[in-house]
Amino acid sequence: MLEELEEIRKRHLEMIKAAADPESLNEERVSALGKKGDLTSLLKTLKNIAPADRPAAGQRINAVRREIEQALAEATSRMEAKQQEIRLSQETIDVTLPAKRIRYGHSHPNTKALREMEKIFIGMGYEVVEGPEIEKDYYNFEALNIPANHPAKDEQDTFYINGEMLLRTQTSGTQIHEMEKGKIPIRMIAPGRVYRADEVDATHSPVFHQVEGLVVDKGITFADLKGTLDMFAKELFGADTRTRFRPHHFPFTEPSAEMDVSCFKCGGKGCRFCKGEGWIEILGCGMVHPHVLEMSGIDPEVYSGFAFGVGLERIALLKYGIDDMRLMIENDERFLKQF
Ligand code: DAH
Repeated sequence: MLEELEEIRKRHLEMIKAAADPESLNEERVSALGKKGDLTSLLKTLKNIAPADRPAAGQRINAVRREIEQALAEATSRMEAKQQEIRLSQETIDVTLPAKRIRYGHSHPNTKALREMEKIFIGMGYEVVEGPEIEKDYYNFEALNIPANHPAKDEQDTFYINGEMLLRTQTSGTQIHEMEKGKIPIRMIAPGRVYRADEVDATHSPVFHQVEGLVVDKGITFADLKGTLDMFAKELFGADTRTRFRPHHFPFTEPSAEMDVSCFKCGGKGCRFCKGEGWIEILGCGMVHPHVLEMSGIDPEVYSGFAFGVGLERIALLKYGIDDMRLMIENDERFLKQF
């Protein structure tokens, strides 16, 4: 029996030494010390030897058991130390790696142009207001002197939600909302998104932005309109900028005009930028039509006003020398990061 014990001892100590991972170590523990393990089986054969020899044999078996337990414990802690070492080496942080650069965003050229315009008008005592993008036909057309079947309605074809509601084609409806509040004087600009059933090309988009302006008070004249918009143009495009007003027609203003600024590339001599004209058209304007005042509850015998509407993209394109409006909405970083 003692020879068998010695064989078991040697074999298991070898196996423990050779175990490569915790799983095989555990298998080894079971096969040596488990219920059906070699040592347990050997213990059961004790009854077959002479009673006088049993205590010594039992002690010997227990000594081997302790030896194997000890070897298992040592192997386990050896493996744990090794795994700890592997884990630590995997978790090592290389502090010499260059840091990830934080890339800061910035405002879109449209937003930049808008902020600049807002600053100019706020400086002249104007308030910045907003109107709804989903608008009643009444505010977008009717109250602006564009009744059903008016040809101007054709030029501003839009997306109808139902017979009464539409996506606004112009920010001019904001004028009506402000006038209906009944607080005069009014000095406001209203920037916002507008919609038209237009195809996309270099100068058109079904979605774009306008900035509306309205002043209503006692004694407002066309001279106020000219002075204000001339000042605006000089602030926006430079002190040398000159303006000219060409007669035009808008249903909600009378008289109406379009304002041109002298070309800020050539100073008015004529170049490619202004197509040889020397002038660049930038906005529509006029004296608020008495009927429009009246419909909004303002007495045209007491009050008068002027209004204007600017295409925001147009200003941004001109100011930053961009030649295609599609660039403004394509979200191409190579374009946007130039501003
Ligand atoms: N709403 C006009 C348009 O979309 C622009 C405009 C012209 C606005 C004259 C005005 C104005 O307030 O007085 O074409």
